[in-house]
Amino acid sequence: MNETFEFNARNMATYNEYLTRYDDVESALLPVLHLAQEQNGWLPEHVINYISGLMNIPAIKIKEVISFYDMFYDVPVARNVVHVCTNITCSMFGGREIYQGLLKHFDTGYLTPTRDGRISLQKMECLGACEIAPCMRVNNDFVGNLDLTSAIQKLEELP
Ligand code: FES
Repeated sequence: MNETFEFNARNMATYNEYLTRYDDVESALLPVLHLAQEQNGWLPEHVINYISGLMNIPAIKIKEVISFYDMFYDVPVARNVVHVCTNITCSMFGGREIYQGLLKHFDTGYLTPTRDGRISLQKMECLGACEIAPCMRVNNDFVGNLDLTSAIQKLEELP
């Protein structure tokens, strides 16, 4: 199946606005990838090729950037992406056990969407919110001072 992608009108306007912020096109790559991921949900080959053509950056270079940053997804993810911190401070307060417990509760694996397509779980390094350890980021919201029960409860509320 030949899938296609192009920015919708609103995102194309945002793209053009991004270009005005940087001295060279390549410097706008990270925000542009965020924009593409926001529109498409993840960054498959055909989206990468579109960005490559649009920005005149080799696709291989874009793939390197995507694989370097764990906030970009080269596999399909669920409606809600949940980053569970397993770094040192959160781990001292049970972050790793919470992550493992969530995988078990939702019967899934790293980034793999749950069967209902609601949740992808991703363990992360420090989310920069150690003061509320152990914590997770649910889409763009931080939730802290968790235990496994409260983490499950929070995620069960997601659409
Ligand atoms: S170690 Fe978890 S937010 Fe910093």
